[in-house]
Amino acid sequence: MTDTSVSGLYRQTMDKRRESVKAFGGLADEDIDAIYSMNGLPRDLADRMIENVIGAIQVPVGVATNFVVNGKERLVPMAIEEPSVVAAASNAARMTKAKGGFHAQATRPVMVGQIQVTGVPDPHSAAQRVMAESQKLIEMCNSTNPTLVKVGGGALGLAARVIDTIRGSMVIVEIEVDCRDAMGANTVNTMAETIAPLVESLAGGKVRLRIITNLAVKRLARAWAVFDRELLGGEEIVEGILDAYAFAEADRFRCTTHNKGIMNGVTAIALATGNDTRAIEAGAHSYAARNGPYESLTKYSKDAGGDLVGSIELPIAAGTLGGAASTHPAAKAAIKLLGVRTAQELAEVMASVGLAQNLAALRALAAEGINKGHMKLHSRNLAVLAGATPDMLDEVVGRLGSEHRVTFDRVSEIVKEIKSARAGRPGA
Ligand code: MEV
Repeated sequence: MTDTSVSGLYRQTMDKRRESVKAFGGLADEDIDAIYSMNGLPRDLADRMIENVIGAIQVPVGVATNFVVNGKERLVPMAIEEPSVVAAASNAARMTKAKGGFHAQATRPVMVGQIQVTGVPDPHSAAQRVMAESQKLIEMCNSTNPTLVKVGGGALGLAARVIDTIRGSMVIVEIEVDCRDAMGANTVNTMAETIAPLVESLAGGKVRLRIITNLAVKRLARAWAVFDRELLGGEEIVEGILDAYAFAEADRFRCTTHNKGIMNGVTAIALATGNDTRAIEAGAHSYAARNGPYESLTKYSKDAGGDLVGSIELPIAAGTLGGAASTHPAAKAAIKLLGVRTAQELAEVMASVGLAQNLAALRALAAEGINKGHMKLHSRNLAVLAGATPDMLDEVVGRLGSEHRVTFDRVSEIVKEIKSARAGRPGA
């Protein structure tokens, strides 16, 4: 494990921080420039990415520190508009670093495509006729992407089942495709569309939808870690975290927010690396409800020494190749900074950050509450809105101290006081 040259990033200026991160990640000037998204997304590239382009919106990219995943230290780029998320992840990662960090494992990157066949007279025999031709159908799928097959991926299997719907029975044919380092939607959709005519003639009905499912149950990422009891704040905090976890397991209103906190981390990496955040979100929440009730994506217990053991399991359909991950300069630089060589490695880091994010939220909620962390950045933003100049910001935060009343009115009052004190000062 290399020690990091990046400790204390939060005390550095943005320029110095960018130099530290560049050195740590072995980035070139153009990589770090690309991450500063002012230059990161050229106009003509933006114009080709979606339709009717009029501009691009910028979201800050921060780096989470202290992450050791499977023994390797990583700096984690996170694109997110919400304060405290990056700090919270870094803080949680620190609490497990001395205990070995995160252990993570991702399954083979297998996605599933669905073909819907309607109006089939005898759906069960139709499903059997399709299954009998699986080998041929798989070969047809693979003929659409020889490169994928050459690198060890491709269609692996096919199944057909009958479902009952409000519009009668339907045959659903599903193909399993190892997408290697791509997210895989284009690959899988192309395969589904290619075999649809043969499926239709075998089944004897009408093919309607041919599309990937985002409930990626064959593409799971898991991580677990031991969090040090003393670094967490002692036994009482550990008990508080376990109570918070029990609350989430028992109540779907709380559980939704609990899982949202996990996705703060997972989605922020997905966005920074040019991945489809909506696909990952949809898959995660659907997976949380796979047993019926909506459940926590994380689990917690206490080990014999009183340390907290946390684990996470969720589907992560994220790629390091294809789509914006291959075209957006800032996303490419973020993947380079992360140092992941495969989509599986990326998913392992994402699961670890999801666990860290959840642990950090539960710890804060069980201890001082969530507002304290938010308030420092929030009060600086309010102060700017209230007319403070940059040299006043530290003073505003200092004066607010431990006040719970961080409202725009209160911050405006303080800014006014500072201004009049400075105006009355000789030489001011
Ligand atoms: C806020 O973005 C996320 C939290 O609400 C998560 C949670 O409550 O567990 C703090």
